[in-house]
Amino acid sequence: MYRRALGRLLSSHTVMADISALRVNYETKDTLNIENLPTTDPLQLFSQWFEDARSCNSILEPNAMTIATADKNGYPSARMVLLKGFDSTGFQFYTNYSSYKGSQLAENPRAALLFYWEPLHRQVRIEGTVERLSATTSDEYFASRPHASQLGTASSQQSTPIRCREVLMEKYSELEQLYPSGQKSVPRPVNWGGFLIVPHAIEFWQGQSNRLHQRIQFKKDVQDEVDKSFVKTGSTGWFYYLLSS
Ligand SMILES: Cc1cc2nc3c(=O)[nH]c(=O)nc-3n(C[C@H](O)[C@H](O)[C@H](O)COP(=O)(O)O)c2cc1C
Repeated sequence: MYRRALGRLLSSHTVMADISALRVNYETKDTLNIENLPTTDPLQLFSQWFEDARSCNSILEPNAMTIATADKNGYPSARMVLLKGFDSTGFQFYTNYSSYKGSQLAENPRAALLFYWEPLHRQVRIEGTVERLSATTSDEYFASRPHASQLGTASSQQSTPIRCREVLMEKYSELEQLYPSGQKSVPRPVNWGGFLIVPHAIEFWQGQSNRLHQRIQFKKDVQDEVDKSFVKTGSTGWFYYLLSS
């Protein structure tokens, strides 16, 4: 009896939870009116949305973002990183230049960033070209990090396979002795530093209760794929238009 039941269970697909009905009804919190935007500079608009996310108590890491990169053959990969600064030149984050993402960026210096601030029903998509930040900027940021983070970064050849976790722990202890906290500063590893994503497209998405979500695309350069009569001229060299949801 038990065996037959178990057999049925294993042969059916009921082991996997049915998630097809999972959905949240977004109550419309804000609207994104293309006729009445607070600013037509997407970096300024991003800054306003970022501040909204920052002051939202239920968003613990407003600067957590996904970065998607691809190798020279076009194979994509994505992971989370932390945004560490942004201004009119673009968006900054720090990582190991020899990591998987670092190698992909070396051979294909393009990336897409994604923010999703769930309690606000907001998504921002950014696409652009990528360049390294200067060694001086990376030095300054590295020096500002907590000592334990500096040691952690210096202990790890990010993304390389290792035999066991002790390899990392041993390296960490070794460096901890070389650079005791409060006595000797940890030098920035040469293969660790910042990247700048220089955006050429930024899309703002505001979820709506009727699923006709609002989307506004900003682009530096609009080609023939967009009907010119849809396109508005924004500030600081950007154009913008609506996208269907
Ligand atoms: C919330 C969050 C923030 C992260 N921030 C960073 C970061 O700023 N820099 C970084 O190199 N890795 C960060 N990581 C780890 C990366 O997701 C990833 O594991 C690591 O960078 C190696 O990625 P790669 O093998 O694709 O190069 C973060 C992970 C999470 C979950």
